[in-house]
Amino acid sequence: MTFASFQNDTRQRLEQHLNQQLQQPVASRLAEAMRYSLLDGGKRLRPTLVRAAAESLSAEPDTWLYPAAALEMMHVYSLIHDDLPAMDDDDLRRGKATNHRAFDEATAILAGDALQSLAFEHLSLSPGLTADTRLAMVGILARQAGHAGMVGGQMLDLQAEGQQLGLDDLARIHRLKTGALIESALHLGALCTNAPLPDATRAALTTFGQALGLAFQITDDMLDVTADTATLGKPQGSDAALNKSTYVQLLGLDGARREAQQQTDAALAALDQLGIDPASPLRALTSYVLNRNH
Ligand code: IPE
Ligand code: IPE
Ligand code: MG
Ligand code: MG
Ligand code: MG
Repeated sequence: MTFASFQNDTRQRLEQHLNQQLQQPVASRLAEAMRYSLLDGGKRLRPTLVRAAAESLSAEPDTWLYPAAALEMMHVYSLIHDDLPAMDDDDLRRGKATNHRAFDEATAILAGDALQSLAFEHLSLSPGLTADTRLAMVGILARQAGHAGMVGGQMLDLQAEGQQLGLDDLARIHRLKTGALIESALHLGALCTNAPLPDATRAALTTFGQALGLAFQITDDMLDVTADTATLGKPQGSDAALNKSTYVQLLGLDGARREAQQQTDAALAALDQLGIDPASPLRALTSYVLNRNH
């Protein structure tokens, strides 16, 4: 299977699955807002990573689907809140009005909250996974999404607006706000084998995930400058408008590109260490992150 067909197949199966999850709304306006952001749109990179990691480590077929969907719910909640007026104050996401523009701020906050809860509920129901595996997954996702992960990084990102940070501080923010969920994709995928990971495998996956996550946010910073709004599906120039600390602001475009390349090389080296098949989608996905245009 080529990487493009792997990506398409994963997207289709994920979207069909997500579509089934919100069929019976308890409060219809809230469910509508959740569906609005969860369905149609997005590259579905994190679910693709969960599946690629699971299959690379010979997990049973389809065990990746629930964890992948749970992680996408968590990611979508982070996007809804990231766009709120109190945060990045953006009007466009995935080519359409942001959640708080399409609905209202209170609904967007609640839709994000409810997606986060749904993610954990969904993980706890994952078919084909043992109770120990599900519990380990809940722990990983909780940690990587919370104050020591994505939310902690978002706080630091907001505090850094208008400041000139050093490279280490900026890397820390990027690793937390974006890298943590990307890293969790790999650990969730690996846990789909229903076996505890050997320490060396866990360490190499962490190295891979951290390098890939950093490369991903550096390219996000670059695209904010180089891409156009229509291709991005979100407003070009949003970082500059908010005086955000980004790799481009700190190193310039060429410096940012070099850093993204270095992180990509480090990620590929970690895959070598893991003994991952050269044909694995994990490799193609790593190059895709560096070269993407949105
Ligand atoms: C955007 O993530 C937010 C960041 C963490 C940089 P993606 O670029 O994966 O967004 P979607 O899911 O494709 O819309
Ligand atoms: C967001 O980083 C990271 C999240 C946790 C959502 P950005 O603020 O750069 O993401 P975009 O550019 O709005 O997608
Ligand atoms: Mg942000
Ligand atoms: Mg933003
Ligand atoms: Mg950005």
